Amino acid sequence: MIDLQAEQEKKVRCLLVYEPENIGNELGGLVSALDMEIAESLVLPSRRPQGNAARYGVGTGKAQQICDLAKDLQADCIIFDSQITPTRQRNWENLTGIPVFDRHEVILRIFARRAKTKEAVLQVELASLAYSLPRLAHSYGDMARQRGGSYGSKGAGETKLELDRRSVQSRIAQVKRDLEKVVRERNTQRKKRGRVPLPGCALVGYTNAGKSSLLNALTGSDVLAKDQLFATLDPTTRRLAIPGGSNILLTDTVGFISNLPHTLVEAFKSTLEEAVHADLLVIVLDAQEAEIQEHYNTVCSVLEEIGATQNPRIVVLNKIDLLAHNDIRRIFLKKEFPTALQVSACTTEGLDELIRLVCEKLCGPQKKYRLPYDNFSLIELARKSGSIVSQDWLDNCFEFTARASKDGKLYELLQPYCIDKDNAMT
Ligand code: GTP
Repeated sequence: MIDLQAEQEKKVRCLLVYEPENIGNELGGLVSALDMEIAESLVLPSRRPQGNAARYGVGTGKAQQICDLAKDLQADCIIFDSQITPTRQRNWENLTGIPVFDRHEVILRIFARRAKTKEAVLQVELASLAYSLPRLAHSYGDMARQRGGSYGSKGAGETKLELDRRSVQSRIAQVKRDLEKVVRERNTQRKKRGRVPLPGCALVGYTNAGKSSLLNALTGSDVLAKDQLFATLDPTTRRLAIPGGSNILLTDTVGFISNLPHTLVEAFKSTLEEAVHADLLVIVLDAQEAEIQEHYNTVCSVLEEIGATQNPRIVVLNKIDLLAHNDIRRIFLKKEFPTALQVSACTTEGLDELIRLVCEKLCGPQKKYRLPYDNFSLIELARKSGSIVSQDWLDNCFEFTARASKDGKLYELLQPYCIDKDNAMT
């Protein structure tokens, strides 16, 4: 008799196919995020026959070999790390009789699973529809149902492939309209936040780097932080009280990833806009990640793509608790990222220093000033700015410690009264 429980728990087995230059475990991580089981990973040969590679992207012999391997492994699907065209996808599916797809579709499926709020659900739907449009030209038949049914994402898989091109297009138009409405609402919220003149800082970085954990550790909130790729799809903003009684706004953002499908970057642009509007970007990197430099480059190029090039930045190497104090990697990190802060959201190591630096970047360096009482207007200005950290009414002057942004008017006005000019205390 069939053990139904075991059947249900049975994971989808996949055969991963890498291009030689893409060998790495990122696709593995993405696939695991969908609870799939990796039956085997194989790397395509770097030299391919020119003539007969058009059908599958590899020679027909190699394609048959891959097909046989999938059968031997009892794989339920084949996943390519590189993008495959709709035609090749159909050719592979005809050859193997099982669903065949690429990294883009894996990422779309992860996003579809994680999307919780209306905005994220709409954004993912838009990206999935855009992705499926060129694939509708081909008949997927049972494959489409199998694909949507066995490990589908909230129906996105099955329904989208059954819709004809025109209805997909009209759905795209509708989703865009709905999104515009949600985005308008969020812009109004952002404007309202803007009315409270609190400086804003966005945490950006590769997925799973620990942005949500940092937001939690810094603000004492309980934003979802999971060992899952793309746990956060919506920006979350929290207040962070800084020394001196003032506040700043900290925003967690959707995680980045290399070769993020363009449709997704487009779809998530409004969410990523939080980064564009931030007064400061904290780029969070995972200190123990072997591909840290590539991740950093990816983050920088996504920031460029969304137009967040001018915002001041701080680089933070998170999860430093996973490296022993004498770990040679610490030296490597120091060399690669000399100005980066080494922190841990788990042990809170380095977080005080991070807050200090964030404050300094957002509100300026902390300095000590002495103002004579006859300069009453400046005393009032300093007090109203909310930047005073501590104060003392002395016999002949008002002595205080305050933060003032170096580009601001207050900083300029206060400089003649600074008593530790060369010694920026923080
Ligand atoms: P996305 O939502 O995918 O963008 O991820 P994220 O960058 O918000 O990462 P998240 O905070 O969800 O953390 C990912 C995993 O790393 C979780 O399992 C965390 O517990 C773990 N983690 C985060 N910070 C630290 C840290 O400082 N040290 C250690 N050891 N683990 C950490």
